[in-house]
Amino acid sequence: MNAAELIAKVPALPPPSASIIRLSQMLGSQNADTHAIIEVVRQDGVMSAKLLGRCNSAAYALRSPVNSIEHAVMVLGHREIHNLVVSAGFGSLLNSALSGYAISEGDLWRHSLITAHVAAAVCRIAKNIEIDPSVAYMAGLIHDIGKNVLSHALDQDMQTAIHELIQRQKYTFVEAEAQIVGTDHAAVGKTLLHSWGLPELLIEAVANHHAPLLTPTPQLSAVVHVADIIAHQVGASPGRDSFAVRANGDAVTALGLGLNDIDFLIASTADDAQKVKAMIR
Ligand SMILES: [Fe+2]
Ligand SMILES: [Fe+2]
Repeated sequence: MNAAELIAKVPALPPPSASIIRLSQMLGSQNADTHAIIEVVRQDGVMSAKLLGRCNSAAYALRSPVNSIEHAVMVLGHREIHNLVVSAGFGSLLNSALSGYAISEGDLWRHSLITAHVAAAVCRIAKNIEIDPSVAYMAGLIHDIGKNVLSHALDQDMQTAIHELIQRQKYTFVEAEAQIVGTDHAAVGKTLLHSWGLPELLIEAVANHHAPLLTPTPQLSAVVHVADIIAHQVGASPGRDSFAVRANGDAVTALGLGLNDIDFLIASTADDAQKVKAMIR
């Protein structure tokens, strides 16, 4: 079964709201204008309410309440607002339990948020890539979204077969998925994002996050790959066998990162823990 056949076979995943699709297209265009982004958020009442709720949560410890989107941007900066908005927009899609992966409610969401934070941080310190950290944040957030679809197809026999390949033959999780199902969560994510009209930059990152594109220059998939591995390293690993990932050391080199940078990225995940906690509630 290929990715498109699988998506057609399982219950449809509700697409994100129109404003989130528009926002992701604006971010993907690399010349997103802050005012235009604020306008998209302001036109979406649910999104605005969620955003103000998050801004006023204990995680941000603001001195006075934030009552408008403009005020929120002034206090937290437009980049933080982008991140809060896309997180709020994808939260309901990524928060659910996925029985096909033995993932409990909130676990994929936590992994996705940590990957997003690290991906943005990688973009800020990597030497060989020029990608806006907000775009990297979004790519990190949705990198495993294919699991939401593939989970429905993984019956008990398939889950057992995948587990055995990982345990006995040292397959990685994606290799085992491809062997047993005929496709994997990265390919399913790629097809899903394409059907939603998300930009090519994000689709590339999701499609290749386990086999990052490094030539002629590292692509966004390299950033997400490194961020995903770090998220696993710090214990944000959702579901059974999720440790079965293979780190591509060449991705680290291609991004111009050294061991000190990796140490810094691992340490910085602790700083984001409070914000991630506030998102998951
Ligand atoms: Fe993945
Ligand atoms: Fe992941």
